Amino acid sequence: MRKESGLGDTAFARNRAEPLHRWVPWIAGFSSSFVRSVLETAGDREPGDVLVLDPFVGVGTTLVEAMGRGHDAVGFEINPYAALVCRAKMGCLTHDLGLFRRTLRAFRDWMAGNVGRAPRAQPPREFASRVPFFSPAVERKVLHVLDFIAGLKEDWLRDVFRVALGAVMVGFSNYSYEPSLGRRASAGKDDILDADVAGIVAGKLDEMLGDMAEAQLRAASLGRKPRAAVFADSFLTHHERVGAGTVDFLITSPPYLNNYHYVRNTRPHLFWLGLVEKRSQLAEMERASFGKFWQTVRSGPRIELEAKCGGLAEALEELRSRNPEKGEYGGRGWANYAAAYFNDCLAFCRAARRVMKTGGTAVIVIGNNILQGIEFQTDRLLAELAEGCGFGTVALHSVRTKRTGSSIVRSSVRVGRAAERVELYETAVELRAREAKTA
Ligand SMILES: C[S@@+](CC[C@H](N)C(=O)[O-])C[C@H]1O[C@@H](n2cnc3c(N)ncnc32)[C@H](O)[C@@H]1O
Repeated sequence: MRKESGLGDTAFARNRAEPLHRWVPWIAGFSSSFVRSVLETAGDREPGDVLVLDPFVGVGTTLVEAMGRGHDAVGFEINPYAALVCRAKMGCLTHDLGLFRRTLRAFRDWMAGNVGRAPRAQPPREFASRVPFFSPAVERKVLHVLDFIAGLKEDWLRDVFRVALGAVMVGFSNYSYEPSLGRRASAGKDDILDADVAGIVAGKLDEMLGDMAEAQLRAASLGRKPRAAVFADSFLTHHERVGAGTVDFLITSPPYLNNYHYVRNTRPHLFWLGLVEKRSQLAEMERASFGKFWQTVRSGPRIELEAKCGGLAEALEELRSRNPEKGEYGGRGWANYAAAYFNDCLAFCRAARRVMKTGGTAVIVIGNNILQGIEFQTDRLLAELAEGCGFGTVALHSVRTKRTGSSIVRSSVRVGRAAERVELYETAVELRAREAKTA
């Protein structure tokens, strides 16, 4: 397969300065400009005639851009924190900004007037961390913020305030992202003993208010109010919520084969924002995750590969035989992880073909990876699986090389026996839905 480079850089870092996108950073999110470059291929079709889907929507880059062009959009996201952020962004065209402004003023007054009072909210009971997540002085202020949120009458306002708190809370906690969540002390940083929690949260809300005002102004010139829906469910099991043959553009980036643990890394947000109460809910989320996690599947029974494509079965056998002395921490555990991952790739391709219009475009950003020294060219394998499900490959666009890997990736490289250095890259796999009979 040919590699092209006709689509823009996918790095989420570019979103950090852009309205709406900048609300919350998301690991392996992609850039707004990348999504725009794909949607531009819709040309001068009536915006309302185009339905855009992101089955792994994260914090909503695809949906924000689709709505910005007047398209209807739908997304799936199993992480309730990401889904919350996405919903808050989708609602921004209809929110009453006068009410928002008044509530923000009331928030500043409330926080200033509450200094000496004991908060009513309690820290989440089942949230455990190795050291206190917030220092006592910070925790007290966070609980005051939660008291204020609990008193808000409108659901959307509660959501917007929770998003603002979620966006900034790690910044005044004793943890940081490196890129996985870890203690500040482990990264050589001091704990945060106190912070201006009210000022930091209010600053975020100010930014969000400004972005909403700008989005509402721009939308007024579009001539139509696009509709958007976000389902807080797995696309693999709930894709029937989208009609068969209805989607014109599918733009997405599923979790990569690098075992980045979205669930673990958002535990503070999930618990402190009241999106999850019990640890068992995290386990459910892990089971529903695309590709699962190595920690979830390594010790289970052998996972058989259903996804048959070029050399994958052989590569998995080779992986299974590596480092047997390490038991489930060696090749055996990683082979289970890879088999679960590619089986989900196959389930995804089938579901994607079901929802797409014949002739529709799917663009899937995905990275290669190295497990125990064996490289998996996920982009090529995914394209091959998609071809078996009724897609044709248009191109593999090389969008990034020298991707920064997670610690899992680096350790995989270290324990490997690969003779030559393998570079990590990202590819946008561009597919076209063929006649349905071959699906
Ligand atoms: C690479 S991120 C997508 C980021 C997104 N492109 C953005 O810009 O924000 C992959 C997302 O897929 C979500 N996810 C994992 N399994 C899923 C499933 N079965 N259904 C829906 N979403 C899932 C993860 O929680 C994560 O947010």
